[in-house]
Amino acid sequence: MTLFTRIARQLNWRRRQWSTARDQAFHDAMFAGQTHDPFSPSYPGWLTIQRFADLAGRHVRPDDLVIDLGCGPGEVTCELARRHPAAQFLGIDHSHEALTRARQLAGRLGLTNVRFDSGDLEGYEPPAGTGLVTMFDAFHHLLDPAAFVRRAGRTCARFFLIEPAGNWLGQWQKTVDLDWLAESLFVIRDRLEYQFGLAASVHGPAAPAPPAGEPTEHRYLLDDFARWFDGYRVEVRGTVAGLERYGQSANASSPLRDDIGRSLYHLVVDLEDALVRADLDLAAKHWAIYAERGRAVPPRRVPDLPARAIEPPLPGPYDCEYVGYEGPHDAAAGSTIDASVDVANRSWRTWDSQAEASPVLASYHWLDAAGRTVVEDGWRTPLPRPIAPGERATIALRVQCPPGPGRHTLVVDLVHEGVTWFSGAGVPGLRVPVRLR
Ligand SMILES: C[S@@+](CC[C@H](N)C(=O)[O-])C[C@H]1O[C@@H](n2cnc3c(N)ncnc32)[C@H](O)[C@@H]1O
Repeated sequence: MTLFTRIARQLNWRRRQWSTARDQAFHDAMFAGQTHDPFSPSYPGWLTIQRFADLAGRHVRPDDLVIDLGCGPGEVTCELARRHPAAQFLGIDHSHEALTRARQLAGRLGLTNVRFDSGDLEGYEPPAGTGLVTMFDAFHHLLDPAAFVRRAGRTCARFFLIEPAGNWLGQWQKTVDLDWLAESLFVIRDRLEYQFGLAASVHGPAAPAPPAGEPTEHRYLLDDFARWFDGYRVEVRGTVAGLERYGQSANASSPLRDDIGRSLYHLVVDLEDALVRADLDLAAKHWAIYAERGRAVPPRRVPDLPARAIEPPLPGPYDCEYVGYEGPHDAAAGSTIDASVDVANRSWRTWDSQAEASPVLASYHWLDAAGRTVVEDGWRTPLPRPIAPGERATIALRVQCPPGPGRHTLVVDLVHEGVTWFSGAGVPGLRVPVRLR
């Protein structure tokens, strides 16, 4: 890495003003109120937990003391402790919400070889006798990784990290990203549930909305890790596990969902092996990095693959095409306006306002000139009739304008009541500029 690229990366990061306190606040908000079951194959994140535990588990020795730094809610820590009953595990994190949840999960599994403590990684030194330090998506939160490796290396000779693959700008490099594969399988799952009337049971409230703010999110090159772990033998393998979008269903489970979750896992295992055989695995969006004090081996290079954007190949249940809008672009603030939108159902499911449990209705949001949401939950309008896949319909909307004047955007959206906004499922609403007097 040249001096120029290093400076460009530092400037890119400095704009973000990251700090440990902000990272802690972000993660506390993120983990508070989580109620999903991470050990159920129905849970979309199960794949990630299993895969990270597979890759780390190869380096756990029977009597190891394993310190999992930045353990979060301890999902991978507990999975490892369950698989390696003779080893002892200690999870460390600065988020109290994460630790509360981690202790609950360990209790639920009846684990006696894992405990969780609060600590700040910036000054943390693993206890003497530590066999392995693991960090799952946590190393890049450190403000001073070089100092961390020097300090932790005094008492520990082996490290296992899962890290997002970085580019020279310090951004996430997702050349091989197979999230579309998981999303397609989830669409197939939803479609089978719909076709056969197999409702999943939902436990606890829906996942909380993503918190405001930002955690510390450096992205590093393989050369960075080689530099920090100088004097170590460093082995790297790519992994495509680590889904970013879980859909609306983190808390839903059923035998069918379990089966699909397990199928996805086996598919990913086989695909990762195929990538390794073709020497393409380092192009995957995460790296599993194992460093053991000893003689360095020549580093592998990240393959130079073209980054190709891939559209999800299957339509989902909410694929709506907004074909037209008729209505005012100018109105009095606080007034009620009438408008109509033409929609085409490009999905595989019928949208029905008469469905008792969860009707599909038309509605809207309002944004102000700065793009901030000023009305989240607009009035509802029933569809004129059930709209089957492939059909078009015109929906007459009654819309209440927000009270403040100025340039606004009306966002027409459909809602599957109690399940999701169509926009929340990744299908953007129709945006209409409206000037309010
Ligand atoms: C992306 S989460 C990963 C959590 C967990 N390892 C997993 O895979 O689910 C990163 C975790 O690192 C923790 N973390 C970040 N900086 C930290 C610090 N300076 N001290 C302690 N924990 C920290 C955060 O609170 C968060 O739980």
